[in-house]
Amino acid sequence: ANNLFTFDPGFTSTASCESKITYIDGEKGQLLHRGYSIEELASNSDYLEVCYLLWHGELPTQAQKDAFVSTIKNHTMVHEQLQFFYRGFRRDAHPMAVMCGVVGALSAFYHDSTDIKNPQHREITAMRLIAKMPTIAAMCYKYAVGQPFMYPRNDLTYSENFLHMMFGTPCEESKISPVAARAMDRIFILHADHEQNASTSTVRLAGSSGANPFACIAAGISALWGPAHGGANEAVLNMLDEIGDVSNIDTYIAKAKDKNDPFKLMGFGHRVYKNYDPRASVMRESCHEVLKELGVKDAKLELAMKLEEIALSDPYFVEKKLFPNVDFYSGIILSALGIPTSMFTVIFALSRTVGWISHWNEMIANPYKIGRPRQLYTGETERSFVPVDNRK
Ligand code: SDX
Repeated sequence: ANNLFTFDPGFTSTASCESKITYIDGEKGQLLHRGYSIEELASNSDYLEVCYLLWHGELPTQAQKDAFVSTIKNHTMVHEQLQFFYRGFRRDAHPMAVMCGVVGALSAFYHDSTDIKNPQHREITAMRLIAKMPTIAAMCYKYAVGQPFMYPRNDLTYSENFLHMMFGTPCEESKISPVAARAMDRIFILHADHEQNASTSTVRLAGSSGANPFACIAAGISALWGPAHGGANEAVLNMLDEIGDVSNIDTYIAKAKDKNDPFKLMGFGHRVYKNYDPRASVMRESCHEVLKELGVKDAKLELAMKLEEIALSDPYFVEKKLFPNVDFYSGIILSALGIPTSMFTVIFALSRTVGWISHWNEMIANPYKIGRPRQLYTGETERSFVPVDNRK
C-alpha cells in the first residue's frame, strides 16, 4: 500500500520524474551531483561552486565562478521593508515558522521578474534566493534573541557572511574562525540537494501548478520541517538530551525496536540509503575535526558515538539496514558552532534552497503538466442521502 501514492509531476508517464541533477544509489551508498561524488565535492569544492554546478550542470571556470560569486554578493541584502514583516511575529516563534512566512512573502517584494517562462527571470530569482537565504535565516535568529539585524558584508565569503550575520553585533565585529566557516560551508554542501526527497517533490508539485518560485520554496520549507525529514537534526539533539547518559542507551534502543512504541531513533534510517549515507561519513569526520580544532569537549558527541556503536551492533538495526544519516552528526557540529537547535532546520533549508530551485527550474524549463498524485479509493460505495430525522 505504501507505493499507492505515486507522484507524477506531469512530465513523465511513469510514477517517478526524470532529472539530470542528482543521482543516488541507496544500496551502494552513492550520491552524485551532476556526476561528481559528494565526497569529492565536500573535500575539494565550496558551497557557491556547488550551487553553480547544480544550477548550470558544470563546474565553473575561475572567471565563471568569480562572476557567479559577484552576482550572489550583489543580492545578499533583503528589501528594507522586510524587517517589519519579522516584527509581526512573537519573539518566541519557532524560527522555521518565521522562515516559512518570510520566504512565502518574498513574491510581494520581488516582482520585477515574474515570468517563469523567461530563463533570465528564473535565473535572477534563483540568484536572489541563494543570496538572501543566509540573510533571512540569520534575521530569524537575531529576531528570536532580541538583537539587531546585521547587514551582509561583501568582503566575506558566503559562510563567513552567514556567521557574521548570526553572531556579529553593531558593537563589535564577529570573530569568525576559519574552522567554523569551513565547517559551515561543508554543512551547506552536504545538504544542498538530494534527488526527489519529500521537500523537493513538494517544490516540484507546487511548481507544476505554475505557482511563483518563492511560494514553491516556502512549500518546500514547510515539508522539510517535519522530524522525519529535515527536522531530524533538531530531533537528534533533543533525543540525545532525553537519553542523557550512556547508561540509558539500551532502554532507548529497546523502545526504537518496539513496534508498539512510536519512538524512532532520530538520525537513523533512510527511505533510500540501505547502506551508510555518504554524507554522514563526511559529516562524522568533520564533526571530529571541528570539535578537536575548536577544542570543544562535547558530551553529546560522546553519547552519539556510543549510540552509533551500540545501534550498529544490534541485529535489528543491522538487518533493517538502519545506518546514521546526514542529520545524525550535523546537529552536533552546529551545536559546537554555538547555533541553537531551533536554527538547525533553518540552516538545512538555507542549504537546500539551491537544490529546490534547481529542480524547479529543470521542471519549468521543460514541457510539464500539473502534478496529480493518484490514489486507491477504499471508502464507501455510492449510497442514498439519509434525512437527519432518520439517522441513528
Ligand atoms: C532526511 O529522502 C531524503 O533524501 C531525505 C534526506 C534529504 O537529504 O532530503 O536524506 C534528509 O530526511 C534524512 C532522514 C532524517 N529522518 C530521521 O533521521 C528520522 C528517523 N528516521 C525514520 O523516521 C525513518 O528512518 C525514515 C523516515 C527516515 C525512513 O522511514 P522508512 O521509509 O519507513 O524507513 P524504512 O522503510 O527503511 O524502515 C524499515 C523499518 C521499518 O520497520 P518495519 O515496518 O519494517 O517493521 O525500519 C524501521 C521502520 O519502522 N525504522 C526505524 C527507524 N527508521 C526506520 N526504527 C527505529 N528507528 C528508526 N530511525
